[in-house]
Amino acid sequence: MRTIVVLNGKGGSGKSTISTNLAGYFANSGYLTVLKDCDPQGSSSAWLEQRSSARAKIYGIVANRTHIHSTRVWQHRIPPKTDYVIVDSPAGVDLNRILDSLRFANKILIPVIPSPIDIRASSLFIHELLKFMKIYRIKPEISVCVSRVTRKGPSYYALLRVFGNLGIKISGCINESENYIRAAELSTSIHEMSSPSCEKDKLDWRSIVDWITGDEPISLDKNNSDDKKVSESALA
Ligand SMILES: Nc1ncnc2c1ncn2[C@@H]1O[C@H](COP(=O)(O)OP(=O)(O)OP(=O)(O)O)[C@@H](O)[C@H]1O
Ligand SMILES: [Mg+2]
Repeated sequence: MRTIVVLNGKGGSGKSTISTNLAGYFANSGYLTVLKDCDPQGSSSAWLEQRSSARAKIYGIVANRTHIHSTRVWQHRIPPKTDYVIVDSPAGVDLNRILDSLRFANKILIPVIPSPIDIRASSLFIHELLKFMKIYRIKPEISVCVSRVTRKGPSYYALLRVFGNLGIKISGCINESENYIRAAELSTSIHEMSSPSCEKDKLDWRSIVDWITGDEPISLDKNNSDDKKVSESALA
């Protein structure tokens, strides 16, 4: 079983979008998948509540009981033979409150929007997280994924540089896309949508999934070797 905690103290960075799409990806790929919502806002819980029973099953774990209106999809414990547990966490998270999830985590995925405000807040958060992990001797691997990318401008390269200097791996880059809004409306993931416009967005997930499953992440800019050269020189 692998546990992936999607985490960033900064609000609106894409945690719930990434958690639900990752859960959809693994469930749709045939893995026994659990989605644990630790956020009192209940975005992932609401998504799972509305998910069609015709789609690949995702088990929900009750982590914020107040926002759960039905018991249909909820478990109290992780089912035997679970392959993947995806944990969605709240903005402004008190790390002590998710200590249990962090202790069991194999990987921590931190979505960061490439903007100066988000880069600053997220790097402060990562410093806090690294201190916390040292105190509690928690050792999951951490990576940042670039979230809601609209263009690869100066902030995108600043993000690569800032987190590269902190020694944090960049596991992938998820573009801003209307398909994520559409997937949320349908309580599904882009991986389960067949429209041709989703195909490009699905490619964004390959390096993130490779990092999660333990394979070496492929190039962040695999489709554009010129971009790759630029991003490498930005990191130099
Ligand atoms: N790649 C994307 N493309 C388009 N819209 C996105 C993308 N990622 C997230 N969004 C939208 O951005 C908003 C914030 O995303 P989301 O709720 O996933 O962030 P969050 O980090 O979970 O927020 P919070 O900290 O409040 O829990 C939502 O409206 C979501 O639909
Ligand atoms: Mg959220």
